Amino acid sequence: MPARKDQPKKIKAPVPAKEAPKEAVPAKKGKPAPELLRGFRDILPEEQSRWQSVRDVVRAMADAYSFDRIDTPVLERSDLFLRAVGKQTDIVEKEMYVFEDPAGDSVALRPEGTAGVARAYINHGMVNLPQPVKLWYEGPMFRHERPQAGRYRQFHQAGFEVLGSTEAIIDAQLLMIAVQTLKELGLPTTVQVNSIGTPETRQAYLAELVNFFRPHRSKLSEDDKHRLQKNPLRILDSKDVAVQELLPNAPQIVDWLDEPSKNHFMKVLEFLDEVEIPYVLNPHLVRGLDYYTHTVFEVYEAGDTGERAQSALAAGGRYDGLVEQLSGRPTPACGFAIGMERVVRALIERNVPGAGRPRPQVFFAQLGDAARRVGLKLYEQFRQGGIAVAEAFGKNALKSQLEAANKLGAPFTIIIGQKEVLDGTVIVRDMDSGAQEIADRGKIVSILKKKLAEEA
Ligand code: HAM
Repeated sequence: MPARKDQPKKIKAPVPAKEAPKEAVPAKKGKPAPELLRGFRDILPEEQSRWQSVRDVVRAMADAYSFDRIDTPVLERSDLFLRAVGKQTDIVEKEMYVFEDPAGDSVALRPEGTAGVARAYINHGMVNLPQPVKLWYEGPMFRHERPQAGRYRQFHQAGFEVLGSTEAIIDAQLLMIAVQTLKELGLPTTVQVNSIGTPETRQAYLAELVNFFRPHRSKLSEDDKHRLQKNPLRILDSKDVAVQELLPNAPQIVDWLDEPSKNHFMKVLEFLDEVEIPYVLNPHLVRGLDYYTHTVFEVYEAGDTGERAQSALAAGGRYDGLVEQLSGRPTPACGFAIGMERVVRALIERNVPGAGRPRPQVFFAQLGDAARRVGLKLYEQFRQGGIAVAEAFGKNALKSQLEAANKLGAPFTIIIGQKEVLDGTVIVRDMDSGAQEIADRGKIVSILKKKLAEEA
């Protein structure tokens, strides 16, 4: 009789599968395993404890300085970055992952976090909140750059942004947070700082800069010629030898700042002196994003002069025009972002250990399947009881399980064999002395809590 639809189907016990006919499984021989894209990387378990330290310290700093977390999407309309980062920047011209989505909209993987934060500030009417609004974020960014040490196509930033204040103390405080975050992690740093004034006062300077480089055009690389024509400020950031040789005699932007810009910069430096953050004035520091005004800065590992390309651990500055540029109300702002891959690399180079998982207080060892079943339940009881517990359910021999317990440094091991399963007991082994005692399984969580409290 055919089974009625509403009747529960009887589940048949699984029958071991017969060997499948050879032709049903196409041979995969010779096909290489899928590879990572160039410039992308896996963050493997052995790196995770250092990543966790970075995340922990960033979060603690954000809490201590009253920043609220924001998460913006990884994918945005490409127009956002054209308007925010600037059409003539390397990031937008060469490095953005831009594509058409299935609806035909031009979208981009975010190359940085500030543009998305400014967009969110406008979209959610944050201008109506008490100002300044202090936000932090952490997540992946994408730039199609030439991969090399410390430069990836997917990388992670932790960023801090303060929107709604012109005060110079904000710039200094952000720089201090960047430096202190890295110091907390065990990384001494040096700071480079400059002011690039306002777009209006910059015009005269840019004309002078172009005049200065014009007689030397033939010596310049194609890239630098392009910069000189489209975005002259960026030539100061060139690592090309020809430019490097000319730079010491080039006009310096600080000499062209108007009085309010000069005053703002002086105040920032005074605040930095006050909190004893040493800095180097770098008149050629301009940064690769167009939204900056006034203060710009980069943070390097102590001893690093910034000549090695791609070595800044963190960077940022003031961006007073960005929100308005994105059609929001005029909102002065300042911020910075830490490059997490570079920080983790520096921690590894300096042998700074990571946060690590908490050391288990109890290890669970079992002999046989019946004991495993008990263990599965007991493990969860320990966890719910707030006791850090570990196991090696994949191992069979007691010896190798005890070795695992020793390796993890658990002070106690619970052992359950066939007999203990039947008796409703467990063996408690003190891993230091090797002493063992039998205990009631029903009371074991509270017994161990007591023992651990006595040990502490
Ligand atoms: P940025 O200088 O482009 O600034 O990036 C900040 C940091 O991100 C760099 O100092 C570096 O540590 C890291 N970074 C950048 N590109 C890469 C890469 N390809 N691979 C690995 N790490 C990288 C910004 O993105 C601004 N949004 C910072 C900011 C926030 N300004 C104001 N608020």
